[in-house]
Amino acid sequence: MTTKTAQRLTAQNLGPAVEALRRGDVVAIPTETVYGLAGNAFDSNAVAKIFSVKERPSFDPLIVHIPPELNSVSKLAHAGIVDEQKMTPNMKNSFEALAVAFWPGPLTMILPKQKKISDLVTSGLDRVGVRMPAHPLAQEILRETGLPLAAPSANRFGRISPTTADHVLDELGDRIPFVIDGGACEVGVESTVVALDHDKVWLLRPGKISATELSRIVSLPVERAPNIHEKASPGMLASHYAPRKTFYIVDDLKSVSQYINNLSFDLLVTAGEPEAALKILANAGLKPNRTEAISKSSNPAEAAKNLFAAMRTLDRSTGKVMIATPTPSEDGLWLAIADRLNRASKKA
Ligand code: TXA
Ligand code: MG
Repeated sequence: MTTKTAQRLTAQNLGPAVEALRRGDVVAIPTETVYGLAGNAFDSNAVAKIFSVKERPSFDPLIVHIPPELNSVSKLAHAGIVDEQKMTPNMKNSFEALAVAFWPGPLTMILPKQKKISDLVTSGLDRVGVRMPAHPLAQEILRETGLPLAAPSANRFGRISPTTADHVLDELGDRIPFVIDGGACEVGVESTVVALDHDKVWLLRPGKISATELSRIVSLPVERAPNIHEKASPGMLASHYAPRKTFYIVDDLKSVSQYINNLSFDLLVTAGEPEAALKILANAGLKPNRTEAISKSSNPAEAAKNLFAAMRTLDRSTGKVMIATPTPSEDGLWLAIADRLNRASKKA
């Protein structure tokens, strides 16, 4: 039996992907955050295909991607995506301010939806997450198809998000016709997700755009969503981004032996040169099988860009256990990195 392999398309040859999307198929596309598995958000069959290819449970809603032209509530309403009638003046003000400041870019805003957006996209919720990606190839696909594209990260459900076309081919190559290769994703972690309310902006998922940056732009308070709102964002499951091997975040490397049970291990150094970490381990008589340092200069943007690729590399390495050092702070992008590491790890 032969396994079908997805064809890799580049900027010069997007035609087949555009046609596939128009006829209701799914295609992996690059964005500045992570690769997405895209399908027509108006077509329930296409959306159902996204869920089945990813093996994603239907209670976890998808983000809808829009082209740069749809940069206002009225244009999004006219395009059949957002229900302007259900937005209060405060919500509209927050939307317009955030769109001007951060779109195109890694920000998803949850807004009242119109009927045309398939209920499957929103898992039956009456609101839809909308994002205008900055990646030029994502923009070109959105323009050429003329469709809003529902796109979750292009990984199997619960696994590490892909930041290169090769990652997508590894995960889903046998299940989809095309992967558009747009190079390595610049941001590396998924978009910041916010829900706009009449009196508040809820931060549902931390990303490159931090709560502090959001607060500077909107006049309403910005609050990290408590658990009740996590229900409204069902995809924020505690266990996510999971490597196949057991993964611990260890504050004090001197205590690594407690976690590894005499097994071989791999090491993810979140910030700084790996030598300091390796020295502490050596003093405890331990040596990792393989080490990945995601930002030797402790730069959170660099760490975010390298995070998922390093997790994949270590997951494939022969060590039996994976250990990561914690982030040096929870400011800005470090919070997004800490969030992804926490979801991927076993609580010690
Ligand atoms: O950067 C990104 O956002 C990437 C790229 C491809 O754009 N996409 C992405 O999609 O990360 P996904 O499906 O892996 O994550 C979407 C998150 C989930 O946590 C989901 O629960 C939440 O957004 N979400 C989507 N629509 C929602 C809605 N209507 N209400 C509440 N939460 C929603
Ligand atoms: Mg995802």
